[in-house]
Amino acid sequence: MSEPETAGRAAFPYPELAAELQQLADRDRELTISTQLESAPGHLDRFRCEAAGWELDFSRHLLSPEAVDSLMKLADAAGVLRDREALFEGQPLNHTEGRAVLHTLLRADTAPAGLEAEFNAVQDCQARMSDWVHAVHEGTHRGHGGERIRHIVNIGIGGSDLGPRMAVEALRPWHVDGLEVLFCANVDPDDLAARLAPLDPSTTMFIVCSKTLRTEETLHNARSARQWLLDGGVPGDALGNHFLAVSTNLEAAADLGIPAANTLPMWDWVGGRYSLWSAVGWSIAFAVGMDRFQELLDGARAMDQHFREAAPECNMPLWLSLLEIWYVNFMGAQTHAVIPYHQDLALLPAFLQQLSMESNGKRVNHQGQALDYATAPILWGDVGTNGQHSFHQLLHQGTVLCPIDFILLTDTAASHDREGKQRLLANGLSQMRALMVGRDAAASRESLEARGIDSGRAAELAPHLVIPGNRPSSTLSCGHFEPATLGALLALYEHKTFCSGRIWQVNSFDQWGVELGKEMGAEIFAALGGSGQRFDLSTNAMLESIIDE
Ligand code: F6P
Repeated sequence: MSEPETAGRAAFPYPELAAELQQLADRDRELTISTQLESAPGHLDRFRCEAAGWELDFSRHLLSPEAVDSLMKLADAAGVLRDREALFEGQPLNHTEGRAVLHTLLRADTAPAGLEAEFNAVQDCQARMSDWVHAVHEGTHRGHGGERIRHIVNIGIGGSDLGPRMAVEALRPWHVDGLEVLFCANVDPDDLAARLAPLDPSTTMFIVCSKTLRTEETLHNARSARQWLLDGGVPGDALGNHFLAVSTNLEAAADLGIPAANTLPMWDWVGGRYSLWSAVGWSIAFAVGMDRFQELLDGARAMDQHFREAAPECNMPLWLSLLEIWYVNFMGAQTHAVIPYHQDLALLPAFLQQLSMESNGKRVNHQGQALDYATAPILWGDVGTNGQHSFHQLLHQGTVLCPIDFILLTDTAASHDREGKQRLLANGLSQMRALMVGRDAAASRESLEARGIDSGRAAELAPHLVIPGNRPSSTLSCGHFEPATLGALLALYEHKTFCSGRIWQVNSFDQWGVELGKEMGAEIFAALGGSGQRFDLSTNAMLESIIDE
């Protein structure tokens, strides 16, 4: 905190456009969303686009056609769509670490020019991944005593956990029979113990999943898992039957005693939070089979193609990003909610948190200058309808501007309980509508009187029932949800994150902010073990309060 924070700060790029957008935002803040929607000809069609099985409806925003034009000019000035090619070509966009950013190559079906070696490495890796998945599913690979593998436990954290964990849950209807995939991320010993308690070591296999294999949590849990296997009767020389690894650090995997044949590679050109398409997604392939995993990749590739080819006005990732820029930089929003109306997508907000906040939660631009403008908002969310009974109160009547992405899977016929699914969707639609139209004082009074409350008391209570409405939200809807549409949805948010990062001029692919805590964690752990190192008064007091007999 010692550096003078205001001097020499970088202003929002493109100052003239920024001034124009600010003026428009100050005006559009006063718009009435429902009036815009009803009275502007063609509004619904103009604020809608389709890609890879998804439709984005962004007609319910505080956004005039003039603001749309200015945002398009901003995207053009920022060169967002020009820069997307740098992504697909593998240019070193992660310049602070000197790395290319090539997660799109993991789902490519042909080798981009100049990237043949990387493409072939990915194909080889997928072939080996597939062999293992088939071997476990068909029972040709078994536990040390000849029993079939019944549980796969992915040990990893951050990008080596959130994406696979979310996708495995999201693809529940496609899970293969007889094999359960579980996840352990936290170094909290109670987490691993709880995961392992019902499992049998002779039928359990672990995937140690870590890009670096230097992550404390994962290394500790991998060692604990190894001990659990040994304690459970797995002979030391048969541990290979029960361990797989995914890492760029093949030597560290060998040091853990995991045979090279059981270890799949990662590459430094894949960021952790963009890695579920690689062997980091092995757990997904075990859960749903390699064909379904391939469909996930196919869907992501369809969204890649849309992002590369669609014109700016109907480019879905670009639109999600421009809405983010609009609210964060010109309307002052500090938060963004994602609310899927689908229980199996419950972990999507947590996945998106890492994707967005670790990528774009940055305070300096490419040149290292401190920014004088906001970057990634706080992203959060939970499934509907559950959230309706907790945080939706704030969304409807709180004082915070929080744009929302609603995610709806609209295929009621596919449900085993059509009425239940209709109830779920009706709830989603009603939330979007209530946020937009609200309820005024007169309607609030009427509603109270209809409940038998006398008119005097109704007048007193009415302000508590008023819902101002005019709260912005988008809807992403999908008519037929399957592995491919999940892939497309995740790629959509990846590309949105890319676009916002380009406009903010931040490196969306590094994460230096998480390092300091890790370094301090190692010192404090050593102090707990008796190193004698002292810290600030507060930390010292806390250390003394930890009883370590
Ligand atoms: O602590 C943050 C982080 O570096 C993430 O970026 C990454 O996804 C996670 O840790 C796990 O890293 P690894 O896969 O190397 O264990």
